[in-house]
Amino acid sequence: MYFSTADEMEKLDELAVEHGLEIRQMMELAGWHMVEVFNKLSIGLSDQIVIVVGKGNKGGDGLSAARHLVNHGYKNISIILVSKDIKPDSQHHLDLLVKMDMPIMVYSENQDLAKEKIDSADIIMDSLIGYHLQGEPRGDFAELIEIINNASGKVISYDLPSGVDATTGECQKVCIKADATLTLAMPKKIFNTNSGKESSGQVFALDIGVPEFLYNKIASGSRPESNHSVRKNSANASASFRLMSVYFSTVSSCVSWNQFPHIVSFRSDFIHANFLSFT
Ligand SMILES: NC(=O)c1ccc[n+]([C@@H]2O[C@H](COP(=O)([O-])OP(=O)(O)OC[C@H]3O[C@@H](n4cnc5c(N)ncnc54)[C@H](OP(=O)(O)O)[C@@H]3O)[C@@H](O)[C@H]2O)c1
Repeated sequence: MYFSTADEMEKLDELAVEHGLEIRQMMELAGWHMVEVFNKLSIGLSDQIVIVVGKGNKGGDGLSAARHLVNHGYKNISIILVSKDIKPDSQHHLDLLVKMDMPIMVYSENQDLAKEKIDSADIIMDSLIGYHLQGEPRGDFAELIEIINNASGKVISYDLPSGVDATTGECQKVCIKADATLTLAMPKKIFNTNSGKESSGQVFALDIGVPEFLYNKIASGSRPESNHSVRKNSANASASFRLMSVYFSTVSSCVSWNQFPHIVSFRSDFIHANFLSFT
């Protein structure tokens, strides 16, 4: 499996945009996949879920996830924004949540309530800082990382745990200690380092729609092998991608999500074999 640096991941995202994929469209898939991860982890529909959202695109992934989770029956979701100043694609997903009357607060305006929410959450989603981390987490970011790490709820990070350098795997003074990580497109180098493995928990590596020829511009064969955990016998990658597109086109009409108790992943062996649920 190919493990990417932060620069390579940035390049892939740039190529995707140059070739017509929109960031918000990729965020849509990132959010959608979180429902599958929740399902895989047997997270209860009544669990208290808090999504902590940074200013960058990783924040947008969490905002997109909130909408998909509500649509799939998760009842108790709160959003904590580090800042009202977020990127336009993230704002697009935030605007939809506002229309849905989701509980949303800004950390600096509601610090005590935000801490209470995080402390009492069953699940805390880390959407703070992605591969564009610059130096040690500062200010409210650092505070929130500490609060999250001290809380008793399970932590799921988007892409990589916030505060971890995506290339070296080093924790920058403070970093999220995740129980699970939903990583997007290319698995990052950190998942192949001891420190990175320690902070990432179980890793789910999922597709956000970037075509293979763009991965090949980064490095030949850098696109993770397509696979499906319940379809281990798929003859080859293209066959399993066909299955994946069938999955995507039919899931909206299914009666119960439990009819699809599987996770779509590039590599089923990337999901640790002994990991079945948080409970
Ligand atoms: N398809 C998708 O869904 C998709 C596509 C692309 C990216 N992404 C996600 O977005 C991430 C990359 O997005 P991005 O470029 O917007 O960057 P990001 O890594 O999500 O966040 C960058 C933001 O974090 C802040 N930041 C960086 N270092 C910090 C520090 N040490 N302390 C406090 N704040 C810090 C920066 O704030 P300042 O501006 O104040 O410095 C910047 O606004 C990826 O990791 C991935 O998770 C998702």
